[in-house]
Amino acid sequence: MTKTRLQPPPAGQDDPSADPKRARALARRLLAWYDRHRRRMPWRALPGQTADPYHVWLSEIMLQQTTVAAVKSYFEAFLRRWPVVEDLAAAPLDDVLHAWQGLGYYARARNLHRAAKLVAEEHGGRFPDTEQGLRALPGVGAYTAAAIASIAFGRPATPVDANVERVIARLCGITTPLPRAKPEIYARAQRLTPAKRPGDYVQALMDLGATLCSPKRPACALCPWTDSCIARAQGIAESLPAKAPKAARGSKRGVVFWTLREDGAVLLRRRPESGILGGMIEVPSTEWREAAWPRPEALRAAPVRARWRALPGAVLHGFTHLDLELEILEARVGMDAAAVDGVFWWPLDRLSEQALPTLTKKVVAHASGDVRAARMGPRAKR
Ligand code: ADE
Repeated sequence: MTKTRLQPPPAGQDDPSADPKRARALARRLLAWYDRHRRRMPWRALPGQTADPYHVWLSEIMLQQTTVAAVKSYFEAFLRRWPVVEDLAAAPLDDVLHAWQGLGYYARARNLHRAAKLVAEEHGGRFPDTEQGLRALPGVGAYTAAAIASIAFGRPATPVDANVERVIARLCGITTPLPRAKPEIYARAQRLTPAKRPGDYVQALMDLGATLCSPKRPACALCPWTDSCIARAQGIAESLPAKAPKAARGSKRGVVFWTLREDGAVLLRRRPESGILGGMIEVPSTEWREAAWPRPEALRAAPVRARWRALPGAVLHGFTHLDLELEILEARVGMDAAAVDGVFWWPLDRLSEQALPTLTKKVVAHASGDVRAARMGPRAKR
């Protein structure tokens, strides 16, 4: 028997979110699936219980940049140390930054602390319970506000990240490529959000996107929405969401200054909070640019006066839109070496205590000629 391809739904029925009755039926099915298959996470309320807003907020801030698996231990450590938001607000910022180490982006930890202070000191320890109120907290954007409002306060709002985007684009058969499809996907996601159990519903959507509705080879046979999924009916699930062709990658170059002091310390600095690798530790360098760096020009950016020698080879690193090539200059200096502002000495044998991004690890590995160094240290994203 030949397999017949399912026909697309008749015109006018291609948007499950347009019909409130269909939307309610979809939510019911997803919730029934969630009740059986929900992933266990320490911040999730048990069935029938309400999630603690402090727990939800803390987990959502941590999840902004790290995987669920990596966040679990940090979340539990934070709660052991600061069981309620007032405790976190009263903690010295340095303690919070230190506990954050390995989660990347220190700007987020600073915002976390500021938000805790705001909640403790100006809201009497209670989190705002609307998306709008939540967005006024430092570090809480549209996604996080919708997540907290729904999960902690039962507000009907669906946070839309890449996983949810994929599920909705497939369910509704949206073939417009990203990023142009974003407003359409967002609008449908909101229309599909049920008034009953919206917090469980959005977490079900997150779980569906993280498990069955995967980018490649989605497990449609197990999906609670399989009968209603337009992309599945059309045989195009795996190709949605469509993506606009990638812009050509740029390439940039820089010169890094690997400065070793006679006591075994190396010169480091923290990147600015905003922009690429914001707030992360690096080895001082020139800026990154397209043009090559003639040596005299590069040396004007050196962090100390020294005799620099070029190390053979270069460090190559690919960011999403950028290929970077870093040349390394090395110098050995005495204890009296005066460094420019904004850099600091750090013992080379204690580098593992710093949460280094991959790029910095590559530079250290190349400069110290030790490939093992590339794998050291707590995990920082990117
Ligand atoms: N990603 C972001 N927030 C999440 C949550 N509450 N559960 C699972 N994954 C998430």
